[in-house]
Amino acid sequence: MATLKAVRGTRDLLPPETALWNQIEATARSVFARYNFGEIRTPIFEDTSLFSRSVGEETDIVSKEMYTWEDRARAQSEKAQSLTLRPENTAGVVRAYIEHKLGETGQLQKLYYIGPQFRRERPQKGRYRQFYQIGAEVMGPPSAGSESPLRDAEVLEMLATFLDELGITGWTLQLNSVGSAADRARYNETLRAALAPLAPQMCPDCQRRAVTNPLRVLDCKVPEDQPLIATLPMIAASLDDASKAHFAAVMAALDAAGVPYVRNDRLVRGLDYYTRTTFEFTHGGLGAQNALLGGGRYDGLSESIGGPKAPGIGFAMGEDRLVLTLQAQQAAETQLAHAYLAPLGEALNAPALRLARELRRGGLRIELGDGGFRLKKSFDAAEKTARRIIILGEDELQSGILTVKDFASGVQTKVPRGELVRFLSAPTHE
Ligand code: HAM
Repeated sequence: MATLKAVRGTRDLLPPETALWNQIEATARSVFARYNFGEIRTPIFEDTSLFSRSVGEETDIVSKEMYTWEDRARAQSEKAQSLTLRPENTAGVVRAYIEHKLGETGQLQKLYYIGPQFRRERPQKGRYRQFYQIGAEVMGPPSAGSESPLRDAEVLEMLATFLDELGITGWTLQLNSVGSAADRARYNETLRAALAPLAPQMCPDCQRRAVTNPLRVLDCKVPEDQPLIATLPMIAASLDDASKAHFAAVMAALDAAGVPYVRNDRLVRGLDYYTRTTFEFTHGGLGAQNALLGGGRYDGLSESIGGPKAPGIGFAMGEDRLVLTLQAQQAAETQLAHAYLAPLGEALNAPALRLARELRRGGLRIELGDGGFRLKKSFDAAEKTARRIIILGEDELQSGILTVKDFASGVQTKVPRGELVRFLSAPTHE
């Protein structure tokens, strides 16, 4: 008999790796609690129309990737129902918000979730058919301030804090605005006109979308179509003054909070419910599937599935991708020396050898540079081989106080010579 295996695109998570999953989830719960979020758990399957009406018929998710089946009627009084394993959790949260009349509290609802999602995508590194998301949504009636750009900035700042606390370094926040529903409608018309002469040279999906939902052409992954897509107009030109002001206020609040971001005019995201702010946090270590997380504002979503006006903003992180990133980082870190010792001038070579001896005898892995190197060369070599650099100049030698720079955090610390072993033995992410 053939042995049974986990279905393609699904996998078992085993110890010790599950400890890392638990650590990520515990960090998320602890950070989200400080921002006063509570947990919501929605069903893993929902009525199919929930996703087609929110995520959008023309999206890849709904048109190609959902696990959908017809659920037989058990009795004559019951109707057969089309059900779908949730491909994402925002639609389910908004359905629950409407069903439980959470808007009637008059308060902002701040809800987070952790759980599996299902999409029939081509499996590859960081992309699975059952994957896990950690996400959150902030929504409520406009009178509760749910449209305020402050909410967008607060969510983004929370994400930066979460990634920093988890110890993920080297992320980039990419930010855009896709405008209001009216702006998007205008942009769709602009795109439709621009696409009319180009579509016949594009892939069959784009040919269809050029007519039905032109914005989705921007999600096309077919390499031959990319040069044509690059010539299409940008959404920024279609934003009205209110959308521009909202976006400017989000950026001003991020600047004030010290959260770094880059603007990406092409970031329209692959789901139809977005309005105004859209974002992704990407990471270079992930390869082709480089989005650690994605999200944005969805001011019309509740109404589109029959609910009251309830603007909102949220995100979902790919937990599988957080795990991959942390594992890669930990593997790289264990190969790095605790510190690179850089003597400042050849006269410091001998004292540096003596200091390196002290540190190595203390059990540390030390890379010893050379006083003949220029400082820039020492820094370049240090970044490749060690987690930190220690500069040994005449002043440091005399005072016995050394400056240690940590590459991951960028922080410089002054440490007395006698304390160096203890200081360097501590993990770099504290
Ligand atoms: P999404 O961009 O479709 O957005 O997914 C969010 C994140 O889930 C992605 O950035 C990625 O890290 C992860 N992800 C998606 N598909 C896969 C997969 N097949 N395998 C592994 N990881 C994956 C949403 O789902 C929206 N609901 C986010 C949101 C919440 N927007 C507003 N509120």
